[in-house]
Amino acid sequence: MPDDPTTPDSGRKKDLLTASIALVVISLGVYGMWKQINASDPLVERPVPSTQSTGPKIFKNGEHPPQMAKLRPQIEHRDGYIGSESCAECHKDNHESWFHSYHRTMTQVVTSDRVMGDFNNVEVSLGPKPERYKLTIDRGLCWIEMGQQDRLQFGQPGERQKFPIVMSTGSHHQQAYWFPLGAGRTLGLAPIVYLKEARRWIPRTSTFLGPHTDVFGVEPSRWNTTCIHCHSTHGEHGGELLEDRSFVFNSRTAEFGISCEACHGPAEQHVAVHRDGHEVDDPIVNPADLPHDLSAQTCGGCHSLNEPHKKRVMHIPGQPLAKTRKVSQRDEESAEFLRQEYLKRGEEDVEAAVEAEFNGYFWADGMVRIAGREYNGLLETACHTKGEMSCISCHKLHKSKSDPRSWKEWADDQMKHGYETNDKSCTQCHESKQFANIKHTHHAAGSSGSLCLNCHMPHSSYGLLKAIRSHTITSPNLKESVEYGRPNACNLCHLDKTLEWSGKKLAEWYGHKMLPLTEDQKKISAAASLALEGDAAQRALIAWAMGWEQAKEVSSTDWMAPYLAVMMNDSYDAVRYIAQRSMGRLGLDVSGYDFIALPKDRTNQVEQVVKQWTSARRSPNLPGTVLVDQQTGVVESEVKRLLARRNNRRIVLTE
Ligand code: HEC
Ligand code: HEC
Ligand code: HEC
Ligand code: HEC
Ligand code: HEC
Ligand code: HEC
Ligand code: HEC
Ligand code: HEC
Repeated sequence: MPDDPTTPDSGRKKDLLTASIALVVISLGVYGMWKQINASDPLVERPVPSTQSTGPKIFKNGEHPPQMAKLRPQIEHRDGYIGSESCAECHKDNHESWFHSYHRTMTQVVTSDRVMGDFNNVEVSLGPKPERYKLTIDRGLCWIEMGQQDRLQFGQPGERQKFPIVMSTGSHHQQAYWFPLGAGRTLGLAPIVYLKEARRWIPRTSTFLGPHTDVFGVEPSRWNTTCIHCHSTHGEHGGELLEDRSFVFNSRTAEFGISCEACHGPAEQHVAVHRDGHEVDDPIVNPADLPHDLSAQTCGGCHSLNEPHKKRVMHIPGQPLAKTRKVSQRDEESAEFLRQEYLKRGEEDVEAAVEAEFNGYFWADGMVRIAGREYNGLLETACHTKGEMSCISCHKLHKSKSDPRSWKEWADDQMKHGYETNDKSCTQCHESKQFANIKHTHHAAGSSGSLCLNCHMPHSSYGLLKAIRSHTITSPNLKESVEYGRPNACNLCHLDKTLEWSGKKLAEWYGHKMLPLTEDQKKISAAASLALEGDAAQRALIAWAMGWEQAKEVSSTDWMAPYLAVMMNDSYDAVRYIAQRSMGRLGLDVSGYDFIALPKDRTNQVEQVVKQWTSARRSPNLPGTVLVDQQTGVVESEVKRLLARRNNRRIVLTE
């Protein structure tokens, strides 16, 4: 996942754990170079020698004019990495399934036939000032035009600039775009991204869970320093610190996207053996044949929060991850590392900064809380540390021939067939006789409450504008909610129930100890309470749960709209987006609402949605725990009381 949003007051100091290199400072010399390709000296007016004798060349299939291709990271087969094309001849099926995976399309070279975002002469205005972006296509190349960026010194103050888009990141939920800065192969990040679900442009800062900002930065060099590690195959940033403190990156990678050799290791010799009959060792790695820890580390190089060792070399599948990277956990070692970094940056309250940074990745008990960091979860899971569980216990990276799912169904989370909806993920190791029955689950067979995943891998992690299943396998307990603020599995599904209700059942069914609770914890639904007084990260999870079919089935839904309405006016963009989606899933018309509209407009838009709820018939049996009265609607005084207590601590989830 992307590291973190750029917010005005925090600058760029938040991603210390993952940061590899400091910021690029673009020098004026670079500006000079840029001039050669910017819009006022249009590249497209003097395109590469065309193969066509007449008419301008239209660029497509990710082919760029050579002078433009020179300004983005380069593909270079090296260190035995030879690229996915060389596998297809012998592994047609594996190649085909990989081709349909989101791994392949994580990084793509952009031409207008290979882009998700709408570049068709579109203008996007953001913020109160407002900031204007214009998106256009010219002979198959995509362009973004924007105003002066404070981090770039291109052009005169106030002058607008036009940049060609050379690369994209992502294809499943959203797509981000990169343009060349003219400093070697250094890239800048477009401040707006295209959101697939909503089919619209939004600020990149709004895709993260962080305080709202009206500053939309271009994050020079982020791809070269950071994203390259996990979004391409065998990348090398090729950065150089110049004397004037500017950087030039000449990044190269064996392949854009996550291709065969990212999981199977360099294959040159493998091909030499099988195609050319050379008698050399075949180094090819199959994660399915590795011991479970090395297998999980194949994925863990990218699917974890980690920090490269001093010598920045890429992780090679089959080798221990610890050779190249240290997985960061909420421990004293990481705390000390962060302390030193914050001291260097002259932070005043170092301990508070470390705490805040940790909270962006982990719950208070150390459980990882963000998307894309599943390997951190496995490292804290007994099934992996005491047993042989690895990622491919549940996931299948190549869909098999007998699997009836469509490519799309499989590609979404790449689960083994059926494992996302039944107990097989767990009963492959744990006796179904013992666990897959009412004696253990206390829910009737067939009830969503009887599924292992729903209690042991609840949706308590966050990322990509949704809740995600925690990959730390734990059992529901009251302590996690009372002491660490994490919604427990029972209350994430039974949204209308109190903590006391869950606590009593856990005591009765599993012999857990009841914990002392406050009066509110005894009488107000845990979800309702978090929606009003929780911190932004908790609110996001509850807003998502109110749109989750399984929770809606058991919690009754007639009471949820006023809560979602409050969250549609939240101060965090991401919370508003998720609340709006769940509101729509309740069947209310949210088409007049824009989550990034200015606050004054938004308030009216939310009122229109709430009116639909007020005039609808409601169930006569709403429980008192949800503070909604059948006759009068919401119990205003209670809602106000809880809102006044809201935990307004600053949250930046660093996906
Ligand atoms: C440590 C590895 C790592 C780094 C570094 C990293 N990412 Fe990611 N990224 C991931 C993983 C893993 C996912 C998939 C998460 C999921 O699907 O739950 C992901 C997903 C994404 C997505 C969503 C893709 C989609 O198809 O919807 C975007 C966008 C993204 N990352 C952007 C970035 C950007 C921009 C950077 C650099 C600033 C970056 N990431 C750095 C590992 C990383
Ligand atoms: C000329 C044919 C040929 C080409 C090209 C080729 N392979 Fe193979 N590959 C084979 C054969 C044959 C086997 C089965 C070898 C065996 O069972 O020992 C195999 C097996 C494998 C395996 C499974 C190994 C195991 O131990 O289970 C992987 C993974 C693999 N290849 C990856 C690749 C990748 C990645 C590429 C492209 C970079 C590639 N292969 C290119 C012929 C080829
Ligand atoms: C993201 C990781 C990943 C990528 C990318 C990937 N594979 Fe695999 N591959 C696996 C894993 C894991 C297995 C073990 C079986 C499974 O999970 O499907 C596997 C199994 C294989 C096998 C053994 C036969 C089988 O299906 O079990 C071959 C051959 C293979 N892959 C070739 C390729 C080729 C060729 C590509 C690229 C075109 C590729 N793989 C891309 C992870 C990956
Ligand atoms: C080189 C880095 C890298 C490696 C190695 C890697 N992944 Fe990923 N993985 C990513 C990124 C980046 C994404 C986001 C792609 C997207 O969703 O667009 C991702 C996405 C995924 C997804 C979600 C797909 C979706 O969009 O629904 C799953 C599941 C996954 N990876 C599992 C694995 C497993 C299992 C392995 C090991 C066998 C593995 N990955 C190896 C980087 C990597
Ligand atoms: C015990 C089973 C299990 C194991 C082990 C497991 N996963 Fe998952 N994973 C799941 C389930 C279940 C989902 C959610 C599937 C769904 O709802 O469609 C999931 C989802 C994901 C997603 C997508 C998250 C999202 O919603 O965007 C990624 C990425 C992922 N897993 C990566 C990994 C990686 C990497 C490993 C190993 C470090 C791993 N998983 C181990 C069961 C497992
Ligand atoms: C590859 C085998 C394997 C898989 C798959 C697996 N487990 Fe486990 N699990 C184990 C082993 C081994 C232990 C450790 C038992 C012990 O302590 O002796 C364990 C321990 C546990 C524990 C106790 C945790 C603790 O901290 O003591 C729970 C709960 C659990 N597993 C639930 C699950 C659930 C739910 C799933 C599916 C989502 C699952 N396991 C999948 C092998 C597995
Ligand atoms: C994914 C959703 C889900 C999860 C998680 C879940 N349940 Fe349930 N629960 C249900 C459903 C559906 C029913 C009604 C059907 C049935 O009895 O199985 C239910 C029924 C119940 C009932 C009986 C009906 C009532 O309202 O009194 C109790 C008690 C209960 N659950 C407690 C719990 C506890 C305690 C947990 C956590 C350990 C839990 N549930 C986790 C979905 C869930
Ligand atoms: C309604 C919630 C719920 C469901 C569904 C559920 N569990 Fe559990 N499970 C628990 C709770 C609560 C505990 C903790 C018990 C304790 O503290 O002793 C637990 C404990 C466990 C343990 C560790 C304790 C032991 O006895 O070794 C395992 C393993 C386990 N469950 C496996 C499973 C499997 C496999 C499934 C699916 C077939 C499953 N559970 C479904 C709630 C659930």
